[in-house]
Amino acid sequence: MSDIRKIGICTGGGDCPGLNAVIRAAVKTAILKYRYDVIGIRDGFDGLIWPEKSRPLTLSDVSGILPRGGTILGTTNRGNPFAYCINNEGQESVRDYSDDVIKNAKALGLDALIVIGGDGTQKIGLELGAKGLPVVGVPKTIDNDLSSTDVTFGFDSALHVATDAIDRIHTTAESHHRIMIVEVMGRDAGWIALHAGIAGGAHIILIPEIEFSIESVCNYINQRHIFGKKFTIMCLAEGVKVPEATQQECIARYGSIPKGISVGNLIGEAVAEGAKKEVRVTVLGHTQRGGSPSPYDRILSTRFGVAAVDLISRHGFNKMVSLRGDKIVFVNISDAIGKMKAVDPQGELVNTARSVGIHFGDE
Ligand code: F6P
Repeated sequence: MSDIRKIGICTGGGDCPGLNAVIRAAVKTAILKYRYDVIGIRDGFDGLIWPEKSRPLTLSDVSGILPRGGTILGTTNRGNPFAYCINNEGQESVRDYSDDVIKNAKALGLDALIVIGGDGTQKIGLELGAKGLPVVGVPKTIDNDLSSTDVTFGFDSALHVATDAIDRIHTTAESHHRIMIVEVMGRDAGWIALHAGIAGGAHIILIPEIEFSIESVCNYINQRHIFGKKFTIMCLAEGVKVPEATQQECIARYGSIPKGISVGNLIGEAVAEGAKKEVRVTVLGHTQRGGSPSPYDRILSTRFGVAAVDLISRHGFNKMVSLRGDKIVFVNISDAIGKMKAVDPQGELVNTARSVGIHFGDE
């Protein structure tokens, strides 16, 4: 359809490997296949609140960015235009800039906007769609917990980092006969922990979807010890629910739960105490979000970027590109947001892990 002339692209929420690959693919498709002009919206939706920040994106702007981590557009996870937090010399206030966004998108001449992001960003996109800005979504998060798509780009790259870390931890754990805890990201879902735990040959995996007890974890570690396995590797998601008793013990020891203490350290202390063994904790944190995308993510991101522009050309607004099996399909953004895709505790992957002796701290 020829009524589309100019599109915008923005990246919102936490960054992840593959964002630049999506931007590159979308810009190339827009310019080479459809002859659209493209505007890069800076720092999430900020570039629509303050349009002077936004710039045209040309083929030369996206040259060489396929393997580069992060996003050339910048991003923020504090930039919801419907409830924008402003800090004025320590005074916090919230302002609704959504009317400005719509007005500025018109002034920039945008006929459509590609919104690359996770649950929060897609929700904002849909709300802007309801206010008259035609949007299409591209699903992103290393956590892989967005509904309506089998995989989000960024997950595979994070998984490589986490698996590599577990591989490295293996040798030192074995040498020192230690319990080693590797804490991976996954605020609400255990996809990275489950996949990296299996791929890295962890002995224990703790995820938010499966309730565990320290007692069960310690029993398993001691059992391994009896069978001559003097080291144990535990991979846990940052979002696991710390057992109430462990929280109370921590409060009794320190007066309160120390600000900023990682879940891995909290659980590590409890396990050291319970199993009477030496424990070391490695928190991988943002190393999982940084660096170059894996080949899988480069390909998926490229497919998503191309499909998003194809979707715009067909006026498939308020929809998101998605991977189902080996096919790229289009789904309603409204179906993708609001309900997290969690690990099924009874699912095939958890059962596979259990079959090879991986413990989830629940039996
Ligand atoms: O949602 C992606 C994610 O990487 C989570 O796994 C993690 O809890 C969160 O973002 C960290 O966000 P921030 O960069 O704001 O600390």
